[in-house]
Amino acid sequence: MKITFFDAKGYDKESFDAIIGQYPDLELEYWSAELNPKSASYVTDSEAVCAFVNADAGAMTMRVLESRGVKLLLMRCAGYNNVDLTAASECGITVMHVPGYSPEAVAEHAMALASAVSRHIHKAYIRVRENNFSLQGLVGVNFHSKTAGIIGTGKIGAAMARICRGYGMRVLGYDMYPNKDLDFVEYVTLDELLSQSDLISLHCPLIKETYHMINIYTINKMKDGVILVNTSRGGLIDTDDLVRGIREHKFLGVGLDVYEEEHDNVFENHEDDIMMNSTPSRLLSFPNVIITSHQGFFTEEALGAIASTTLNNAKGFLAGEKTGTELN
Ligand code: NAI
Repeated sequence: MKITFFDAKGYDKESFDAIIGQYPDLELEYWSAELNPKSASYVTDSEAVCAFVNADAGAMTMRVLESRGVKLLLMRCAGYNNVDLTAASECGITVMHVPGYSPEAVAEHAMALASAVSRHIHKAYIRVRENNFSLQGLVGVNFHSKTAGIIGTGKIGAAMARICRGYGMRVLGYDMYPNKDLDFVEYVTLDELLSQSDLISLHCPLIKETYHMINIYTINKMKDGVILVNTSRGGLIDTDDLVRGIREHKFLGVGLDVYEEEHDNVFENHEDDIMMNSTPSRLLSFPNVIITSHQGFFTEEALGAIASTTLNNAKGFLAGEKTGTELN
């Protein structure tokens, strides 16, 4: 079975090519184009396509893929908010994903962002490079003995909860399905979590119910001087309301690996371009905001796990076996 990869980068090729020898029934073809209705129309002889977080996997794309004979969409990521699963089913396309390739990779990045804003690492780094060894304005806060609030205690949230416990924090959780493995987490209501936490980290998926769950009303319920971290999906936070909250001095710091409108930016070098959206520039105009470009997943271990799970998904599909990673 040939699999056409969309939005394939050098690091994707490296991690998949390293193990493709173990899958004699699979052939890989790498395209740099993103998946969308237009690029989908060029697919030939591929029963399967493989896409990433920012693909346009909506109804139109599904219909085009169906017309090109595609039966399998392999998402080489965990989140699938960009995939129209109903349309995929209507078009006879099975969608599979990689549910938990390395929760620790994302959780460690979330804590890196939290630590960076709390200790002003982004400013300190630039100061020392400029031979400015003054500490003025760099006073930070301890996490030890503070309260962490984890919204969504699935695989990544659980890893983040464990990291926070390791820092000596009290850990609060909010989730409709409390994680029984986390006996040290106190499950509370969202309002209780917002009002008691010194560090709030978002780890729930982006769905209709969670879209803009961080807005001016929920921000107003947070403690003054809170640190907010989002490594989940940009749409969880209403950017305009976040800017308002920052201007009202609500936050000690904000660390974002994801943000609204990231779609046009992520994974590309735009340093010589006139940018058509201003979300990162607006947010980075504040001294207490750090943004990274959706790199929470980006570790050697995670890339290896993404490659092996994706190819095992394809192998299972080909053999007509259930792998447990089917989404429809
Ligand atoms: P998971 O499915 O294991 O956990 C999600 C948890 O959120 C579940 O426990 C679920 O019950 C809970 N949840 C659902 N709706 C909720 C709500 N309204 N309020 C509170 N909790 C709710 O997912 P996992 O693997 O932990 O991933 C979480 C998210 O992280 C993904 O949806 C994805 O968007 C994001 N992600 C980001 C990456 C990055 O590179 N920055 C990489 C991988 C995932």
